Amino acid sequence: MSLRAAAGEATVTERSPAVVPVHVGVIMDGNGRWATSRKLPRVEGHRRGVEALRRCVRAAREVGIRFLTIYSFSSENWSRPLTEVRELMGLLKLFLRHDLADLHADNVRVKVIGERDNLAPDIRQLLVDAEALTCNNTGLTLVVAFNYGSRQEIAAAVSRIAADVAAGRVRPQDVDVDMISQRLETAGIPDPDLIVRTSGEQRLSNFLLWQAAYSEFVFLPIYWPDFDKAALLAAIDEYARRDRRFGGVTKCPGP
Ligand code: IPE
Ligand code: IPE
Ligand code: MG
Repeated sequence: MSLRAAAGEATVTERSPAVVPVHVGVIMDGNGRWATSRKLPRVEGHRRGVEALRRCVRAAREVGIRFLTIYSFSSENWSRPLTEVRELMGLLKLFLRHDLADLHADNVRVKVIGERDNLAPDIRQLLVDAEALTCNNTGLTLVVAFNYGSRQEIAAAVSRIAADVAAGRVRPQDVDVDMISQRLETAGIPDPDLIVRTSGEQRLSNFLLWQAAYSEFVFLPIYWPDFDKAALLAAIDEYARRDRRFGGVTKCPGP
């Protein structure tokens, strides 16, 4: 039985969810297993994953999500076979070259987080161009986490603060949660309300560790290439049923 069948087939619906998270993070996982289960090479799963990404962005816009962060390549994904790493780099280039004009026309603002120094110059340029072209757009903000690792991001922020302390620009006692948040690459972006991971795995894999302090997690039992609007709506429905307490107590309805 497929993962999706095991979970009960979701029905595609055009309804709008009652509660819409402002920021959704998506860990797009399971491309390789999607392909292997069909006796296809893993790269085929990644290619189909790009189509799922397009569906995801469209659905997020339709639903009214303001920020969508997609985890597309982790700092640790360099440990994969070189051919697969090359394919993933190629797919990012393809996505940016092929989809950027449409994203721009749809008023999507693209922001990229992750380490850029060890990326090829042509990819770095595409990232700069995508951000520059769309920086004044006011619709969905699409945050592309590429070559991203949250521990590395936090370490870099702490290093910058340490440099400011050493230079006398910041006093040690002034270092606080807000200062660290503002030094992260996600500065100015609200913390994710909802983090969705496909493929059944239930872990963060170095994604938005700091920012996810009070996120709700939904783990979908489908592989990423099968992701669609119904899957997003199912995740949002689950989110809407959660009681977010942020350390407080549930607000009881009045007498
Ligand atoms: C997600 O699918 C894509 C990336 C991590 C870049 P995977 O390639 O991790 O697929 P599985 O988890 O091996 O099935
Ligand atoms: C997380 O998936 C990274 C992305 C989705 C880009 P992985 O497949 O790399 O994570 P692990 O290795 O299963 O934890
Ligand atoms: Mg994986």
